[in-house]
Amino acid sequence: SVLEMEVEQINKGKYEHYMQKEIHEQPESLTTTMRGRLICGGSCKSQTVLLGGLKDHLKTIRRSRRIVFIGCGTSYNAALAARPILEELSGVPVTMEIASDLLDRQGPIYREDTTVFVSQSGETADTLRALEYALENGALCVGITNTVGSAIARHTHCGVHINAGCEIGVASTKAYTSQIVVMAMLALAIGADTISNQARREAIIDGLFDLPSKVREALKLDQEMKELAKLLMNEQSLLVFGRGYNYATALEGALKVKEVALMHSEGILAGEMKHGPLALVDETLPIFVIATHDACFSKQQSVIHQLHARKGRLIVMCSKGDAASVCPGESCRVIEVPHVEDCLQPVVNIVPLQLLAYHLTVLRGYNVDQPRNLAKSVTTE
Ligand code: G6P
Repeated sequence: SVLEMEVEQINKGKYEHYMQKEIHEQPESLTTTMRGRLICGGSCKSQTVLLGGLKDHLKTIRRSRRIVFIGCGTSYNAALAARPILEELSGVPVTMEIASDLLDRQGPIYREDTTVFVSQSGETADTLRALEYALENGALCVGITNTVGSAIARHTHCGVHINAGCEIGVASTKAYTSQIVVMAMLALAIGADTISNQARREAIIDGLFDLPSKVREALKLDQEMKELAKLLMNEQSLLVFGRGYNYATALEGALKVKEVALMHSEGILAGEMKHGPLALVDETLPIFVIATHDACFSKQQSVIHQLHARKGRLIVMCSKGDAASVCPGESCRVIEVPHVEDCLQPVVNIVPLQLLAYHLTVLRGYNVDQPRNLAKSVTTE
């Protein structure tokens, strides 16, 4: 109806699509996610994290034998991005489960486990079934959702709302970055506040405060990503290589391209390159490599060299100022992103890939907000 169309226009504001709006509002949604949760102690030198919905359960989580992340699609990828920092700060082993796969295998879940259910909608059938399964097995169940009153929020023992605001585009964007931030805060809340990791904790908390402005900076790559989309719009396939903190970025970037631009795309763990993917490399197939500065950087440089030696068509994402040290030749395209604390880098790095997927979709003439065959919330198994 005319009224519906007008309401939609008001909601989208100056944007053409919800996905575009939601990508661009990430500096604000991230701010809302952190609001009231990063607390300055005394002189503001010692900062702590306060997650109200978890505070009575932190002891149990710390003592659990294992933390199991469970989710589907983008929510699974967000958990994967947070896994390394959770392992580092908590010292508790962290394992990953795709909800449907856990159910297919009836995988072991124990009373001593903390299971964490990550879901934007809080209604995904597979995730909800996995939650019922974990409850039956006596595990502590934590929910991380964007929907107050959702089934997952109601049936878990405790949890955190990501407060990213309503997300309408079927492809998740702002919920993804807010989920990662919540799980980084979860890592800080669980992790012991010892002298040996004080500097690390402070760097992460400072990084969280700076994150909205770094994301705003990354959003300035919009035009550059549109140009890249023009170059790639008629391709059959796009590979995305990542590792460490940004293995998840590779999976999530490829998922965005696949689900909205309807182009085949595959996220590949760079460490596995030699074990198969290398056979695909030639002068035609575009390959996106994430090589921002962290402990894996030199390994990623060597991946770039090997891909270049096989004449791969490279697009490299690197930290600002690193272009010369990642680019093996003129044929390689570089995208520079602002540098943040390593465990938060996935939040910045996904932004150009979201923009790329968005522009590819528009250029290829597909439906941005409602990709064919997909639903925002999959409530059937
Ligand atoms: C569907 C959506 C995806 C989403 C996934 C998980 O497949 O199309 O965008 O990532 O469900 O949804 P959830 O609400 O559980 O995060």
